[in-house]
Amino acid sequence: MTEHVRIVEVGPRDGLQNEKSIIAARDKIELINRLSETGLACIEATSFVSPKWIPQLADAAEVFAGITRKPGVSYPVLVPNEQGFDRALAAGATEVAVFSAASEAFNKKNINASIDESIERFKPILLRAASSGVKVRGYVSTVLGCPYQGDVPVADVVRVARRMHDLGCYEISLGDTIGIGTPVKARDMLRAVADAVPMSALAVHFHDTRGQALANILACLEEGVRVVDSAVSGTGGCPYAHGASGNVATEDVVYMLEGMGMDTGVDLAQLIDTGRWLSALLGRASGSKVTIASDNA
Ligand code: HMG
Ligand code: MG
Repeated sequence: MTEHVRIVEVGPRDGLQNEKSIIAARDKIELINRLSETGLACIEATSFVSPKWIPQLADAAEVFAGITRKPGVSYPVLVPNEQGFDRALAAGATEVAVFSAASEAFNKKNINASIDESIERFKPILLRAASSGVKVRGYVSTVLGCPYQGDVPVADVVRVARRMHDLGCYEISLGDTIGIGTPVKARDMLRAVADAVPMSALAVHFHDTRGQALANILACLEEGVRVVDSAVSGTGGCPYAHGASGNVATEDVVYMLEGMGMDTGVDLAQLIDTGRWLSALLGRASGSKVTIASDNA
């Protein structure tokens, strides 16, 4: 039987949050609608964070209201606190993502909270989400290294992942925020977390800063993970993680998985077209090697 890998497309959120010039809401809406037609089943649409911290996504409510929600596709949004959750609910979101980190230093820079404080902030969100039928995904950042702290002990990753899973997050996405990991370290980290949280509730989220993302994903697939985060055209980066570059490109992930005989449900040609459209909009070359190869063919 063909194995299925679920791709969580984070381009409209992680991909765009670090863009310097403000992209019009109508273009963000078009991006999400185009992605919805490629067969992707999960598209992280935007963030209901403080517009002072992430000005690019200040239009979250307008974008969320403007998209055509395709049946069968989920559109999670990031929320850092109850204020964000209220805004997400008012906009009609049915899935949200909360985010913390394995590093205290990064969490402070990113959400102005300690790890403990962030978990306390998430508790009322999880309770209210459960009573309103909203699904909650959880992110743990800096799982393979931190731009402020340096090395991050695997035990810290395990502890935060377990706490978020215990709170009720249905899936924990393990983020190599600054793309510093290598395959053996990625596999060992995943193996340790999977002792505390079932593998079926884990996802991997690699930034490709040092060109290691696909190798890291392969190592994690071999370990048993079946959910991969990626961003069309390899866009992305976190403004509070200096040196972080784009996420692994969804086109390249789909190409690799198809080549391994795994099913993603994604139409690669259509995804490449959407990536080309986005590159033209952003005025720069695609970060997808598969797209560049197809352009040069
Ligand atoms: P703070 O300054 O401590 O918050 O920031 P505050 O509660 O003191 O509020 C300050 C102001 O923000 C107030 O407005 C609030 O109303 C407002 P004022 O009274 O000054 O006019 N505010 C909000 N407005 C709208 N929506 C909200 C909201 N909350 C407060 N939800 C806070 C704390 C968490 C708000 C801030 O630090 C923040 O928004 N951080 C988000 C940073 C971010 O989005 N980073 C990128 C996403 S994480 C990532 O990329 C990693 C990931 O991809 C995985 C990986 O790669 O590892 C997920
Ligand atoms: Mg990220």
